[in-house]
Amino acid sequence: MSELKVLHAAAEVFPLVKTGGLADVVGALPQALRAQGADVRLVLPGLPAIVDAVLHQKTVCTLGPLFGAGRITLRLGQLPYSHVPAYVIDAPYLYRRGGSPYQSSTGVEWADNLQRFALLGWVAAHLAAGELDPTWVPDVLHAHDWHAAMACAYTAAHPPTTAATVFTVHNLAYQGLFPPGDFPLLGLPSRFMSAQALEFHGQLSFMKAGLKFARRVTTVSPTYAVEMATHEFGCGLEGVIRSRGSDVSGILNGVDGAVWNPATDAGIIARYTAECAEPDRIAKARCKSALQAELGLCDDPRAPLFSVVSRLTPQKGLDLVLAALPGLLQGGGQLALQGAGEPGLEAAFSAVAAAHPGRVAVRIGYDEAFAHRLMAGADAILVPSRFEPCGLTQLYGLRYGTVPVVRRVGGLADTVVDASDHALSQGSSRATGFVFDHATAAALSLAIERVISAYAEPGLWCDLMRNGMTRDFSWTGAARQYLGLYRGALEST
Ligand code: ADP
Ligand code: GLC
Repeated sequence: MSELKVLHAAAEVFPLVKTGGLADVVGALPQALRAQGADVRLVLPGLPAIVDAVLHQKTVCTLGPLFGAGRITLRLGQLPYSHVPAYVIDAPYLYRRGGSPYQSSTGVEWADNLQRFALLGWVAAHLAAGELDPTWVPDVLHAHDWHAAMACAYTAAHPPTTAATVFTVHNLAYQGLFPPGDFPLLGLPSRFMSAQALEFHGQLSFMKAGLKFARRVTTVSPTYAVEMATHEFGCGLEGVIRSRGSDVSGILNGVDGAVWNPATDAGIIARYTAECAEPDRIAKARCKSALQAELGLCDDPRAPLFSVVSRLTPQKGLDLVLAALPGLLQGGGQLALQGAGEPGLEAAFSAVAAAHPGRVAVRIGYDEAFAHRLMAGADAILVPSRFEPCGLTQLYGLRYGTVPVVRRVGGLADTVVDASDHALSQGSSRATGFVFDHATAAALSLAIERVISAYAEPGLWCDLMRNGMTRDFSWTGAARQYLGLYRGALEST
């Protein structure tokens, strides 16, 4: 059987462009699929960091004028590091600018996001139709989040395309909504501007294009796949999701072991393995001491050091950390946070750091290298999210022996086993962290109390670390599940 050809369409890819976990997934999943024999390529918008870094770019074709861009060059090159082939849509008028992929550096959404991401979907769909690069036509077109979702609508508008479309929801809260008057800019037949298609409460929804028109819809954990279909988590799209029935499923994200591995991580002061033997414990303690020194925290090896690495948005429930902080400090704990996002949360965390020198350290901003040092040096990582499609930082915590404290929601519920009395009475062989149910300061405070007492028992703590570090969250299993899903989607034509 010939190799399955899969084209991934996405707006971010680690390490070139990253605003969150989407980039980590798009960086790792194609490599894992290739390792299992699939022939995988990416199609990416020509953001400056992408145009500048993709290797060996060769022109495939020129396009335009299209979506307001006069000159567009589609090139094929290779991602640095992984060497995965990637099509780059070089449209300087739409993509050559600073800021983030979605916003200006002052946090304002780009006014032409409809055109910018319609172009991404359009190119992906036309590659799938065999029109732009007849030498490589994918069997499967896999679009990620609203940014690439229009690929599914453009493919549906062109019945001769045989490629099966798969749409993955990484976060339902970001939907790509635009004024209905912009519909003519998309160049789609008018029937696509209906409630059965892109129209969503009087607006145009790119997310809905993926949910409605992809042959299969996936999300990044089994629990979020169920939650998305409920009023509480569906962000108004629960009816659309329910109507897709068994076409919707959840496949848990993995960890890229080439990037996140305490045994090989060149960015941390001492490396350690999952054995948790004496040298490993000494190395982890060195990472902690170095982190405390770097952050100006008291050099106290016995103080449980809690960490947060996160976007600062309401999703992440970090207001609960602020409310639970007095108990954490009373119990002798320390807090180190790395994050950026809402100005109110940034200010509130900066204020608590100023109020508790030596006990609370806060770094506002985005710093990939520091995130590794934080993950290695901390004892526990707090992820008290209100909703969490998968969550990667709790997985990195597990890998680094940094015990996760999470709310029982989405992918957090699927990846962390609570150190309940029951789990502990069974020899604590399964427990990997601390899980609480309600998004309240009281529930988080109770979980933090449990962490502090477990930390005081070195044998128990060591078991928790080892259990987490030896759990297999590699991408291999997820890639196998995606391949099965792709084959099912192709058979269901
Ligand atoms: P989300 O995608 O919702 O932000 P995830 O947990 O899936 O949440 O992924 C977040 C990713 O972004 C992780 O790789 C995490 O380490 C990284 N990250 C988040 N905030 C920061 C930050 N301020 N500095 C460095 N890395 C960060
Ligand atoms: C989203 C979600 C996060 C998930 C990530 C990668 O940003 O918020 O839970 O881990 O995508 O799939």
